[in-house]
Amino acid sequence: MKSIYLIGFMGSGKSSVSSCLAEHLKWDAKDTDRELEQYYNETIPDIFAKKGEETFRQYESHILQQMPETESVIATGGGIIGKQENREWMKSNGIVVFLQTSWDTIKDRLSEDTARPLWKDPDSTYLLYEHRLPLYEETAHLNIRTDQKSPDEIAEDIISLINPSRNG
Ligand code: S3P
Repeated sequence: MKSIYLIGFMGSGKSSVSSCLAEHLKWDAKDTDRELEQYYNETIPDIFAKKGEETFRQYESHILQQMPETESVIATGGGIIGKQENREWMKSNGIVVFLQTSWDTIKDRLSEDTARPLWKDPDSTYLLYEHRLPLYEETAHLNIRTDQKSPDEIAEDIISLINPSRNG
């Protein structure tokens, strides 16, 4: 069966849901941010600071295209949907699941975050959230609301919707 790409804004729980879902399905869990840091041997904040966002986006597209195309759950960086090339890649190579989390939940989760270069003050980050919403929606095959749900519950919702035993 095709791999599952998890998309959504920073703080929507893609990495934790990816681990749970992969465990349930007995698939591999992948994370484009972690793969990118390993491959380029540099942290994301350092890449942004030293080389800029455009270089980070080139790295991100390269890593996306290296991800396994079957039986893996791939957590992606929140901005991966910015490039049309990435949106088309995920749509045609896998099942794309949008983890839709409300702005209030994201703001609460990330208020103390210092590891994400694009998490700035809530007002400017909200504009980015609003701008990206339609891009997540147009890319996703499935849209899952995540507020008040645990990663395990979200993983179960996804499994019941994709029905891997019938699609396998
Ligand atoms: C980004 C989100 C981050 C990471 C990078 C840029 C973004 O990933 O890829 O800091 O543009 O929203 P998470 O969504 O896992 O935080």
